[in-house]
Amino acid sequence: MTEDAPFFDPAFAAQLESLLHWRRDVRHFDRRAVPEADMDDLLRCACLAPSVGNSQPWRFVRLRSAAIRTMLASHIDDESAKASLRYAEQEQRDHYRSLKLHGVREAPELMAVFCDGHPSAGHGLGIATMPEMLRYSTVLAIHNLWLAARVRGIGVGWVSILDPQAVTTMLDVPAHWSLIALLCIGYPAELSATPELEQRGWQAREPWADRLFER
Ligand SMILES: Cc1cc2nc3c(=O)[nH]c(=O)nc-3n(C[C@H](O)[C@H](O)[C@H](O)COP(=O)(O)O)c2cc1C
Repeated sequence: MTEDAPFFDPAFAAQLESLLHWRRDVRHFDRRAVPEADMDDLLRCACLAPSVGNSQPWRFVRLRSAAIRTMLASHIDDESAKASLRYAEQEQRDHYRSLKLHGVREAPELMAVFCDGHPSAGHGLGIATMPEMLRYSTVLAIHNLWLAARVRGIGVGWVSILDPQAVTTMLDVPAHWSLIALLCIGYPAELSATPELEQRGWQAREPWADRLFER
């Protein structure tokens, strides 16, 4: 069944690659609110992601409480301070500490993304030997949201310097949901085709061909 399938021409393919180049992890936000219609668009696009057994295990929790935001920001700062101690050399520890690793205080929107380990959809198809596929499916939904945001000029920052159990408890979600991501969403303070960690001399992108192996 073809329905009215669109044809994606080479110009569109080039645009798509440009979108992939210009998607950034954003930690610096201006304070402009994201229109509700755009938030709906992002979630609708996220939910178009593929998922094992079509289980759609993603669960989005939009954080509206100022008290939760404050708690989260301090928790992440504490975890980041602890993580800095993993770098034995003082120079690298200082470099780590100089990086901005989240925009939780400034981002106009915060979204926690969970994976439902027992989704009602999908009838268990595809997860007998690899239950982690539910989590991978949730990551794909996040990536959809990330790209849908970028084409609308909206930035997304993924924050993972946190204790997932502590955050899960803070957000009081069902026990069979596991935290996949905390996302900061808003308009970026600046646009760049270069990852911030590359700009700051932490880690550059490496050639794609170095990641290809053959057997
Ligand atoms: C699973 C995942 C977790 C991440 N966690 C963090 C984080 O806690 N703090 C942060 O500043 N960036 C985080 N990032 C963003 C990466 O640093 C970023 O994707 C990488 O440096 C490449 O930059 P780009 O996304 O702008 O291309 C995370 C990205 C992913 C995919």
